[in-house]
Amino acid sequence: MIDHLPRLERIWLLLGTGSLVVFLIILGVMACGLGLNPPGHMHTIVPEQVKTTAPFDKPALTQIGPNEYKASMIAEAFAFTPGEIAIPRGAKVHFEITSPDVVHGLLIPNTNVNIMVVPGHVTEFEYTFKKSGDYAMLCHEYCGIGHHMMMGKLVVQ
Ligand code: CUA
Repeated sequence: MIDHLPRLERIWLLLGTGSLVVFLIILGVMACGLGLNPPGHMHTIVPEQVKTTAPFDKPALTQIGPNEYKASMIAEAFAFTPGEIAIPRGAKVHFEITSPDVVHGLLIPNTNVNIMVVPGHVTEFEYTFKKSGDYAMLCHEYCGIGHHMMMGKLVVQ
């Protein structure tokens, strides 16, 4: 099929195809063999059962230590539940968040909270809020017509 091409061109073509094959094999081994998943991934959940599976049947902020909290949250089109969170300054928050519908994100500007929320996965992340103020909780993965309105508020007192 490539016999009519000049020799050098054939060599480059084979090199290109060869490196593509090597790349795909590496990717396949990483994805399947090593079981790599989205960053922060801890465990899986059935998307249809999010609202009947603890703790997401009662999404809430719970105090788990002296100044330590767990925020069990749902991200769905087009809101976060709970949509408003208030914590004292210096609080360490363990976020655990999942989606019953499509891919969402949770981004809190001026912090390093930047989470991808994938249906079927519970994403966990922790952050200590050292500065008082109002923080926005934004969805930063396009999720549909209401994406730009999908936001919550986190108040550090
Ligand atoms: Cu949810 Cu964009």
